[in-house]
Amino acid sequence: MKETSFVGARFFMGSVTNIANRPFRRLVTEYGADATIGEMAIAKYVVNGGKQDLTLIKRGPHDRIFGAQIVGGNPNHLAKAARLAEKYGADFVDFNCACPHQSVVSHGGGAILLRRPEALVTQLDAIRQAVSIPVSIKIRKGFDEGDNVAQEVADIAQKAGFNAIFIHGRTKAAQYRGSCDWELIEQVARNADVPVIGCGDLANGTDVLQKMPDTQCSGFALARGAITKPWIFKEIHEGHAIDPDAETRLEMLARLVMYTLETFGRDEVGLKKSTDFLCKQLDFLTRYVPTSILGYELPMQERAPDWTPRNELEALWKRTDRDGRLELLRRAGLPDTPEPRVREVKKQSAASSQDSQEAPDVSAIRAVEMLDTSTEDAVDSHEFEAESAQDVIDASDSSALDAICTAAADVVGVLETVIDSCADAVSSVISGILDP
Ligand SMILES: Cc1cc2nc3c(=O)[nH]c(=O)nc-3n(C[C@H](O)[C@H](O)[C@H](O)COP(=O)(O)O)c2cc1C
Repeated sequence: MKETSFVGARFFMGSVTNIANRPFRRLVTEYGADATIGEMAIAKYVVNGGKQDLTLIKRGPHDRIFGAQIVGGNPNHLAKAARLAEKYGADFVDFNCACPHQSVVSHGGGAILLRRPEALVTQLDAIRQAVSIPVSIKIRKGFDEGDNVAQEVADIAQKAGFNAIFIHGRTKAAQYRGSCDWELIEQVARNADVPVIGCGDLANGTDVLQKMPDTQCSGFALARGAITKPWIFKEIHEGHAIDPDAETRLEMLARLVMYTLETFGRDEVGLKKSTDFLCKQLDFLTRYVPTSILGYELPMQERAPDWTPRNELEALWKRTDRDGRLELLRRAGLPDTPEPRVREVKKQSAASSQDSQEAPDVSAIRAVEMLDTSTEDAVDSHEFEAESAQDVIDASDSSALDAICTAAADVVGVLETVIDSCADAVSSVISGILDP
């Protein structure tokens, strides 16, 4: 492992939208995450002052080292959002150039920047000049299936004065298909003058421990591994696998429930928000299959075979239906809540997969949920949801759509510039009238 480190951290809790909020970050910090990255914040909404959006970039009271992640296609918005992140206590700003979501890409942000070096330079310069704290960039291998631009983009970022590079070794088009290209990550890390933090397919502490002796990376960022097994950081620090029993996992959930209620409050709104978040989180936590039953640690790309619970609580952890989730949360100390927003479709999907004796595919369920997203949810989340859901939706070839979106991004960029100029002109006319 390279001796240099970014912000003094080696093991990062990666950015995970809808999950890596303050309560969850507090939990993984207790398990040993050196640094935590906030949920992705869309720069434009942050600048417009949305309370929910500002929360995303603020350091929480329990974050040890906190990175605020921003995304967007407008350098003015990015610079302002980065400045706000610095003001609200972030230790570093992470610029997301890996986000595959159409709603982000079509506005000239996220992964589209991997194939637009000129626009990328403008945005990197804007962010770098806006703050004095360290800045990092999150990239993928490329945009289209055959792309491999990670080295080129890493060089651009270093030249722009960026202090670290987070790489997920897959293209935007691949989503989560195939294995993460760790050879590429290592190669970029070898060539880089700044710390490179690798991420992708690190499902268990042993995956990280095996890489550590030879890696050129200065750190690792964990996403799905950590949201399924928050204790993965403890495994890394202790140097061995940990297989907590159902009771121990319930104690962990009870802590998360407590932190969630402390963050969102116990009034009706707080309870609803807590229930929504905890049910989403349980989509991942309930995926854990005890190693002592399976006989081995489940790799990221492998789906668990069906397994037989050894006791009643283990059986409850295995359930994926709404009532099972709520019962787990009740036992973990969540008070009775208003009608939760776990969708009926999930119950149906879980029920039908149970009928067919197959392990329910949580990603597919989430994808259906996402397609089913109500207008209220779309406004809540700015039409942005978890990547895993989008993966399933985007499984079909989207190259034609990408071309349209690229063109649309150009038009949106021009329109935003025109609107900004009009706003400047109007405000100077108004100042002229008020102060002739
Ligand atoms: C549900 C979900 C949400 C995610 N949200 C973000 C995000 O907001 N920003 C980001 O940079 N990456 C996000 N990612 C990607 C992860 O940070 C990570 O790069 C990717 O999942 C590969 O790592 P893994 O194999 O450890 O999951 C998300 C991934 C998942 C599964």
